[in-house]
Amino acid sequence: SRGVARSSEGVVSVGGVDVHALAAGHGTPAYVLDEADLRERATAYRRAFETAFAEVGAGVDVYYAGKAFLSVAVARWVHEEGLRVDTASGGELAVALRAGVPGAHLGLHGNNKSDDELVAALDAGVGRIIVDSLVEIDRLADLVKRRGGDPAPVMVRVTTGVHAGGHEYISTAHEDQKFGLSLAADEGADSPAVTAMLAVLARPELHLLGIHSHIGSQILDPSGFEVAARAVLTLRAHLAERTGVLVDEVDLGGGYGIAYLPGEVALDPDRIAKDVAASVAAAASELGTALPRFSIEPGRAIVGPAGLTLYTVGTVKPVRLDDGRVRTYVSVDGGMSDNIRPALYGAQYHAEIVGRVSTAEPVLARVVGKHCESGDIVVHEVRLPGDVRAGDLLAVPATGAYGRSMASNYNLLARPPVVAVRDGASRVLVRRETVDDLLALDEG
Ligand code: LLP
Repeated sequence: SRGVARSSEGVVSVGGVDVHALAAGHGTPAYVLDEADLRERATAYRRAFETAFAEVGAGVDVYYAGKAFLSVAVARWVHEEGLRVDTASGGELAVALRAGVPGAHLGLHGNNKSDDELVAALDAGVGRIIVDSLVEIDRLADLVKRRGGDPAPVMVRVTTGVHAGGHEYISTAHEDQKFGLSLAADEGADSPAVTAMLAVLARPELHLLGIHSHIGSQILDPSGFEVAARAVLTLRAHLAERTGVLVDEVDLGGGYGIAYLPGEVALDPDRIAKDVAASVAAAASELGTALPRFSIEPGRAIVGPAGLTLYTVGTVKPVRLDDGRVRTYVSVDGGMSDNIRPALYGAQYHAEIVGRVSTAEPVLARVVGKHCESGDIVVHEVRLPGDVRAGDLLAVPATGAYGRSMASNYNLLARPPVVAVRDGASRVLVRRETVDDLLALDEG
């Protein structure tokens, strides 16, 4: 009962649970997360990378990037599947710890972590703190000095100059953006990346564990990963020549692209793992260095396809376009507050009427939300049955990543629940917000 079940009657169930039962039991809109599917994706990534890297003689750890979506249950699932967890804030860190993920299996990211977040990470004994600036290196070392205890394990986030990913806002390794320390150096000077690593080595309160590179998100062209991996290994060899320190670990980040629309093809974990392993092995042998231990940080590829959003259609309105065509505006009971990605990135999604058969001719439709702005679009263009009507259930696939995790309360809408389905049963992972929850924050 994994995934979405289709019959001659269209989509009828998810994870073995009838879509009408989901809507009746949990209300709409609701995020529905297929537990078996998520676990299989987590394991597929772990196995693919372990196998391919073992073949070239290197170890690898897979960190689930919690920013894509994190709840206590999800952190526990990925932990049970042998993954570690990458967190990007004190909030994500707290959720992973509550799930029982050992501190040593956690990483903390961020370009502007607060002192509280850094101290929480030290208290939890996180396996690595990924530092992003010279200011942070000093701040962290000072905190460790005041607090006592072992040196903090640190990775330096570098910018390889590789431009990859689905949208400018989610590309992270070109020069003109806020993340990382550049590999590019002026003639005769150290690059910011080298300067940062020397700064870490100069502080006894820090242990330089390795180098981190994340090039972007929703990447469908795998060549960027290989270019970035080579650049990082070259930097590692250069540092070893300079200082005698050959760092133990290299993280290649996340960003593995998924299919959002019918006919799109996701990156294949086996393919990419093999290609990247071959390319790091070749680079290390050219450089004459031993391979480090590797890690990767997929988020979207684990949770994205495992989730869908279930809405109820409220109104249907034909609108005549300038060219004479008619577009049917289908309004659902959520919108940009539960999925900001179309408005923010121009992201494309698919939609289907589920739980009933229609033989009506399809019409050109646009699925919109209930917010007070016209950019509140869930699906720009999709063919829906011509008899689409109020009360229909509408599913938008592949919303598991960066849906609930980027949800807002715009127009003071309460955020939808996350409901897990497995073996024909459903359970709430994150409950629906209520207006009382919202009022409770208001001090009047
Ligand atoms: N590691 C680091 C350091 C990252 O910055 C990210 C994503 C990941 C891992 C996970 O990337 P993934 O495998 O999920 O692509 N809100 C945007 C995506 C922002 C990604 C930011 N960093 C979206 O909805 O497309």
